[in-house]
Amino acid sequence: MALERTFSMLKPGVVQRRLVGEILARIERKGLRIVALKMMNIDRALAETHYAEHREKAFFDELVDFIISGPVVAMVVEGDGAIGVLRKLCGATKAEEALPGTIRGDYAEHTGLNIIHASDSVDSALREIGLFFQLAEIFEWEDGNDSWI
Ligand code: RTP
Ligand code: MG
Repeated sequence: MALERTFSMLKPGVVQRRLVGEILARIERKGLRIVALKMMNIDRALAETHYAEHREKAFFDELVDFIISGPVVAMVVEGDGAIGVLRKLCGATKAEEALPGTIRGDYAEHTGLNIIHASDSVDSALREIGLFFQLAEIFEWEDGNDSWI
């Protein structure tokens, strides 16, 4: 499978619920590699650009208001097929469809508060990584677990 990088973000509420460690642990345990990580506040302009594909949707204003309502934890995650793998770990968009065992299935009751974002394609991943991270904020590191995970 192709080595990929994907963008992910723990949405507002995750810091407040003290779930950062638990969610990061799930991503790490799968074997995916965190190559960039930061806590930040998103301003309205960045939120609107990030979610530009949803500009015409009825939930757009609510989505932007929510995503700027508190700090998020943004990251770049690397691994074989990382884009699809992380989407599977996250689970379905709609809270009621997210299966138990997935991050959304286990931690989210409402779709608007579905706690984690993950890029949905190679193009989205490239675009979103570029929106949130400078090249110097992304770290390559040697993986001693290559033959085990
Ligand atoms: P995300 O972009 O946040 O990773 O979520 P996603 O790809 O699974 O879903 P997407 O279709 O991109 O929707 C973006 C976010 O908008 C909110 N949403 N609300 N009320 C609704 O019907 C509705 N649909 C989507 C969710 O918070 C979703 O994560
Ligand atoms: Mg999306």
